[in-house]
Amino acid sequence: MRCSHSLVLLLTIVAACSTSGSSPSSPSSPSSGSDGEARPSQPIETARSINQRFVAEDLDVDRFVGIFESESREVFRARDEIVGKLELTPGMAIADVGAGTGLFLESFAEAVGPEGRVYAVEISPRFLDHLRERSEREGLDRVTVVRADPRSVELPPASVDVAFVCDTYHHFEYPKETLASLLRAIRPGGSLVIVDFVRVPGVSADWVLDHVRADREAFSREIEEAGFERVGEIPVEELRENYVLRFRRP
Ligand SMILES: C[S@@+](CC[C@H](N)C(=O)[O-])C[C@H]1O[C@@H](n2cnc3c(N)ncnc32)[C@H](O)[C@@H]1O
Repeated sequence: MRCSHSLVLLLTIVAACSTSGSSPSSPSSPSSGSDGEARPSQPIETARSINQRFVAEDLDVDRFVGIFESESREVFRARDEIVGKLELTPGMAIADVGAGTGLFLESFAEAVGPEGRVYAVEISPRFLDHLRERSEREGLDRVTVVRADPRSVELPPASVDVAFVCDTYHHFEYPKETLASLLRAIRPGGSLVIVDFVRVPGVSADWVLDHVRADREAFSREIEEAGFERVGEIPVEELRENYVLRFRRP
């Protein structure tokens, strides 16, 4: 029962994240070869990119609150365990890159305490408005909302201890440039944590293979080539369709 709920939810997320009319053969679709090598998505400037729906002026934010913050979403159910595994301590600064509707903001704000800082980083104008409204409504005065560029997280150098990227790495249209900006933004010794979809040909559904452009090893290689050290997988019991990887900024 729970499995079929997850499947329906995941399908909804993928459908919602994809642009209408995209197909595996479409130049706008993220793709990966049978070799599992990462192939960059189309740039955001193209008409039908992976983030088109999110950057649209008519984005229905409430609809995405319903999609991202639903008990039938695996990451949502596992959110407390995920946050617990990040080893956040009072006074830390964390960036939620691709913060979306802001489902992690409250837990992050609580974990870093009054001396800490949470940066909610987004490229979507409507999500940015929503993140500001949400932080104000929930009294999260330690949250700073940051408008990112598709090529840069736009955070000051060495400003965060942890950068958290949940179901967003595969949305980076310029992974090399975005990773370079993350390397600058994370303090030496700090962490980059990636949560993304398990992508295994023959195991994952076709729509996962089509939507997520590469698997965990290909993403790891990209991140290590950008200058991060792989620390390892963070085991999260509740996750089946997603994995969590930690990297360190030397
Ligand atoms: C699938 S949603 C995930 C949202 C949230 N992390 C969650 O798990 O609920 C991906 C988000 O990443 C954002 N995004 C895509 N590329 C980005 C980039 N280069 N920098 C910051 N945010 C980005 C999109 O606008 C979208 O809100």
